[in-house]
Amino acid sequence: MSLLRVDNISHAFEYTLFEDVNFILNAKESMAILGVSGSGKSTLLHICSTLLKPNSGAVSLFDKNIYTHSDDETLKLRRYDVGIIFQAHYLFKGFLAHENIELASFLSEKAIEPRMLERLGIAEFMHYKVGDLSGGQQQRISIARVLAKKPKIIFADEPTGNLDDKTAQEVMNVLFEYIEQENAALLLVTHNTQLAKQCTYHRYLHVDGLKEEA
Ligand SMILES: Nc1ncnc2c1ncn2[C@@H]1O[C@H](COP(=O)(O)OP(=O)(O)O)[C@@H](O)[C@H]1O
Ligand SMILES: [Mg+2]
Repeated sequence: MSLLRVDNISHAFEYTLFEDVNFILNAKESMAILGVSGSGKSTLLHICSTLLKPNSGAVSLFDKNIYTHSDDETLKLRRYDVGIIFQAHYLFKGFLAHENIELASFLSEKAIEPRMLERLGIAEFMHYKVGDLSGGQQQRISIARVLAKKPKIIFADEPTGNLDDKTAQEVMNVLFEYIEQENAALLLVTHNTQLAKQCTYHRYLHVDGLKEEA
């Protein structure tokens, strides 16, 4: 079983963003998507993660076509199996850090691992109000919140964009370890070629599909 399979998808808004995008992600694999601003990387991530139906082509998660699913099946996928880390994090700023994480854990009925909070370097901030933490700390809380539900596949849109190099590497190490241990997969959008090269695959998004070169 592949975790994610993308067959010949294309999408346009005012103009064609991309055509003929194909790839497969198996357990323990990661893929980085690079490309210029506006090339459609975030759009591709939305399409792969149940949020946007492509103009043409098929997307399968766990061997099931997600855009022929019932709404109910899609909601279940989002709640239990798909983890999405956005560029802008949607935390509840007036709540404590641990309350934000516990909410995700409660919704998906999975326990939080204290070790994961240690690895993300946020264990000591659990009793802080999210609004009082720095941007980088908030981003790590948002990553903990996603991992707390134990997704089988993680979609991350520039998750380390507002972190310094050392913290960015530590956060990526947590994500790489997570997919290894949980037999999960990671689809990552990033501008950081150093981090991209640590993935199983790294590809550049062009109008005519994914390429190995910029
Ligand atoms: N919902 C939308 N409606 C119309 N145009 C959109 C929408 N989402 C993105 N776009 C446009 O599609 C292009 C690609 O956007 P995006 O996928 O965010 O690119 P990237 O993440 O590579 O910077 C941009 O020109 C953007 O304005
Ligand atoms: Mg983007």
